[in-house]
Amino acid sequence: MSKITAAITAVGAYVPEDVLTNKMLEEMVDTNDEWITSRTGIKERRILKDPDKGTSYLGIQAANNLIEKSGLDPAEIDMVLLASATPDLPVAATGVHVATQIGAINAFAYDLQAACSGFLYAMSTASAYIESGRYKKVLVIGADKMSSIIDYTDRTTCIIFGDGAGAVLMEPNTEGYGLQDEILRSDSIGRESLRIEAGGSLMPPTEETVARKLHFVKQDGKTVFKFAVSNMSGVSAEIMQRNKLSNNDINWLVAHQANKRIVGATASRINLEEEKVLMNIERYGNTTSATLPLLLSDFEKQFKKGDNIIFASFGGGFTWGATWLKWAYNS
Ligand code: UT7
Repeated sequence: MSKITAAITAVGAYVPEDVLTNKMLEEMVDTNDEWITSRTGIKERRILKDPDKGTSYLGIQAANNLIEKSGLDPAEIDMVLLASATPDLPVAATGVHVATQIGAINAFAYDLQAACSGFLYAMSTASAYIESGRYKKVLVIGADKMSSIIDYTDRTTCIIFGDGAGAVLMEPNTEGYGLQDEILRSDSIGRESLRIEAGGSLMPPTEETVARKLHFVKQDGKTVFKFAVSNMSGVSAEIMQRNKLSNNDINWLVAHQANKRIVGATASRINLEEEKVLMNIERYGNTTSATLPLLLSDFEKQFKKGDNIIFASFGGGFTWGATWLKWAYNS
């Protein structure tokens, strides 16, 4: 029997309608469009304003978009894996609610949290299940309502993040398409540099933690930037070397959209031409678990069967990685 690989066979996405532009942020904090654009590449982000809707809403919309586009029968899904740093609730996995709401009545579901690398790690988990032969249709969702954990008086974080979700279906393939190799890493050296201090078991929420705004994301941007540049570009170069891939062999770089300068540094480390480097940070900002599937959805029509894609991510924890995947279909 030929080897089973895990291929992406369908893609879906969703971003909320409300737009938060750099100009609007100028009215909220001491910042300006020129600073944000030149330092990050971001022009606007989408925000889920409805206070009654959480991350599951974004995930459900993205999954339903995939189901509509592909004609997938949700009853055939074996497993729903939801990557998120902003679950609806601390307990009662968001993925479970998403699975139920989309009609995945024969699936089991759970959440996976690895900050901005969540989606890449979730693709790895889904692939391992598929390669083992245990499950055949795994829905991998990256969804984050980042606006729920952002302090909109803190100019160092509120300019960066946005809300959104993306989903892919992963299925077995015996023709050599799909996930080929990956290098995933983590190091808690970054635990202090990007975190929400309160609300977990180490510091349960109290009136004081809320008053001190410890339930919001805090980031030491410079430190995160340095680690992101060296680690994300490092694993991207390493995965190409160990698979004897040159820049000419690579069709696309699908890199986490945290900062256009970090993506640019990764692209130049692996000598990739600009037209192969996919970017949509200008429209969505950093949507954490959703950036990679949002890129897949935005650029799906350009992908050809057999294209070599390098995925790269870096996020809080720290967590990072690079994955080499062969695209499995023409749109
Ligand atoms: O996805 C998870 C991983 N996260 C990341 O990868 C983010 C990594 N970090 C970054 O992308 C960048 O560090 C930032 C975009 C967050 C910041 O850019 P930077 O070039 O590192 O700026 P900085 O923090 O060194 O700040 C430079 C200056 C400072 O002023 P002084 O000290 O030079 O007078 C800041 O106070 O810019 C100031 N500043 C701002 N000015 C206008 C900081 N935030 C802003 C702002 N608007 N929003």
